[in-house]
Amino acid sequence: MSARASEFTAQGVLGRLESLARFSADGPGVTRFAYDAAWCDAHRWLSNEAQALGLTATADWAGNLFFHDPAVATGEVALLVGSHLDSVMHGGRYDGAYGTIAGLLLAVANRGAAGLPVVGFVTCEEEDSRFHGGMMGGRSLLGRVEPGELDEVKDRDGVSWRQALAVAHEHGCAAPLVERRPPSGPLFRPAIQLELHIEQGPVLEAQHLTLGIVERIAGYRRWIARLEGAARHSGTTPMAMRHDALAAASEMILAAERVAQETGEPAVATAGFVRPEPGLFNVVPGTCELWLEVRHDRSDALEKLGAEVARRCWEVAQRRGTQLALEEGNAQKPTALSPVLAAAAVRLAQELEIPHRRMPSGAAHDSMVFAQAGIPSLMVFVPSRSGVSHSPEEFTSEADLLTGVQFMDTLCRRLAEHPPA
Ligand code: GLV
Ligand code: MN
Ligand code: MN
Repeated sequence: MSARASEFTAQGVLGRLESLARFSADGPGVTRFAYDAAWCDAHRWLSNEAQALGLTATADWAGNLFFHDPAVATGEVALLVGSHLDSVMHGGRYDGAYGTIAGLLLAVANRGAAGLPVVGFVTCEEEDSRFHGGMMGGRSLLGRVEPGELDEVKDRDGVSWRQALAVAHEHGCAAPLVERRPPSGPLFRPAIQLELHIEQGPVLEAQHLTLGIVERIAGYRRWIARLEGAARHSGTTPMAMRHDALAAASEMILAAERVAQETGEPAVATAGFVRPEPGLFNVVPGTCELWLEVRHDRSDALEKLGAEVARRCWEVAQRRGTQLALEEGNAQKPTALSPVLAAAAVRLAQELEIPHRRMPSGAAHDSMVFAQAGIPSLMVFVPSRSGVSHSPEEFTSEADLLTGVQFMDTLCRRLAEHPPA
């Protein structure tokens, strides 16, 4: 039986998604942060699956994983197809995982085929859940990491990327760093990069469509705001004499929300984390850390949105007499994917009579990094039930998951045989 017939099945796709979802830290949904125990277990499981299917699994220094025909050597030009292994805290079982399994199955199905070798890839860290390095997986895969980052990028516990990598290496999930600095090139040279993903939004389902052909991906700007007011007795300090850091942060959150609403779609603003200190009933919060993010799919609009949110934060801080340090975190530019690949995908969807549309992505993806590096890059979405994602409730139907893999397989084969000039 061909790999397509035996693996492009409910068991081949959903069974593997279920297996992968078991590699998670405790708690609801999937929590799999880069290089943690669940991530290493998932990494080893994927490598074993690849080997059982007759492929070679090769990890690079950062723990990005490649599935390839043993006859395809590292250093070769290839069509790369895959996604990321890490998750958000209490995330779903499809985000990233679906694309990694698709990459594995497509590498098997296209083994020995004419044209560009099809290599599956799995990036180590896309969600920024553990580190705040910004697309560390995609960037490290492409050799776009500054030498200092290995020691400067740290998780919440102060563990550096280099230290975390040493643990992954001990577990066999990353190759050794030969020099102290990261290599400047990828293990395989991507001629084309494809990523199959769940939509993570409600549009495809609402429009009764099966595939989304992604044309561009929204960019984001992020800040860590540190506010310093005055910690005072909550019972004795009159309202007019307070410098409440949490109240100031709250105003900033609402101001950011208002700016995004005033800007209009697709602008979004989110405060994902707030930590007031000392965190007691009877003390006016003296300090507060606040994480803010804004997104838009046009560079000029993103700049304007970011500038206005920052301006209003400063205004709130000044009016309330709180000190503010606004540290800009990692950012991603709004990124266009390949129009040539999108056109090829649309043609194929029309030919196969699969209901589809072109669409933007509000979520960020590793594909941005590939596209920014000048590699022709394309993402294809399948519907998410009720648009839910980054949640244990994430769900995509079996039929849609299988259609996505089959569509991607045909697209992959065509592009590998006749890469666009
Ligand atoms: C990742 O899913 C992101 O959009 O931040
Ligand atoms: Mn995600
Ligand atoms: Mn994802």
